[in-house]
Amino acid sequence: MPVHYVTYKGIKFPPAYNSEHSLSFAHNEFLVRDDDVFNVTYPKSGTVWMTEILSLIRSRGHPSWSQTILNSDRMPWFSTRLGLEAALSYPSPRLLTCHLPRHIFPKSFSHSTAKVIYTLRDPRDVVVSYYYFSKMCSSYEDPTSFDQFLRDFLNGELPHGSWFEHVQGWMEMKDQENFFFITYEELKQDLQGSVRRICQFLGQDLDDAAVSSVVRNASFSAMRENPMCSSVLLPADIMDQTKGQFLRKGICGDWKNHFTVAQSETFDRIYQDRMQGLNMAFPWDRH
Ligand code: A3P
Repeated sequence: MPVHYVTYKGIKFPPAYNSEHSLSFAHNEFLVRDDDVFNVTYPKSGTVWMTEILSLIRSRGHPSWSQTILNSDRMPWFSTRLGLEAALSYPSPRLLTCHLPRHIFPKSFSHSTAKVIYTLRDPRDVVVSYYYFSKMCSSYEDPTSFDQFLRDFLNGELPHGSWFEHVQGWMEMKDQENFFFITYEELKQDLQGSVRRICQFLGQDLDDAAVSSVVRNASFSAMRENPMCSSVLLPADIMDQTKGQFLRKGICGDWKNHFTVAQSETFDRIYQDRMQGLNMAFPWDRH
């Protein structure tokens, strides 16, 4: 069945969660509070992982909150229909999540001291993860082939828009003190060190035992066993668990199992061209 995406400012959004009103409200009217903390990502970059990390930091390493409340209720997706209601009613300090590009992020953010944590990932792994996710999630069109999906990704035609524009838009904030960015690859390589850096950014002083507990409970295996974040509780008409797993592989470099040499060369060419203005080195630039 064809999926009728919601379009806002030229970007497609999955229809099950978003409406033009919720997106427009998030952009134009949503009131950011100074003590809000935002988890922002392009899809498949480690959003739910960061949700777990931030929830566990907030509960000082105690896992009971993460193990009893759905991740989307702990950190509402404020630009979606249901998430917006939750976000408006939550007491401060709020933890909030979104995939919004910088140019349609709440306007009121500019005048606030709210913090943004932006997680980004090797775009080649993003597109592979996104491909499998689209197959199991009914709000996304079933990809016809990986080759076509990759082309759509490179052309910025997938839901949530262009990866390049997302990263470039957010990276314009990289020198601001209320903005922190981290890569999926850094989380994989050194979760403990990453958690400590995030705590420092948030001004949360966790002792060693609390940090270890965050690391333990945010591991791939712990998250797979936690139905509050593994997506198994989502209804089958939203996410069909027979077609895959949301917590699929959780590794770096899976693109190497999917890209042909020709696809890899095309990707590199477009990546170099689109990223040259950014002047930044990322962990995946070496591989
Ligand atoms: P894969 O499909 O490559 O396995 P998002 O939350 O932004 O949708 O991203 C989902 C991706 O993050 C999936 O990637 C998922 O497995 C991975 N992920 C989630 N939690 C993780 C964890 N604790 N460790 C490693 N990867 C994790």
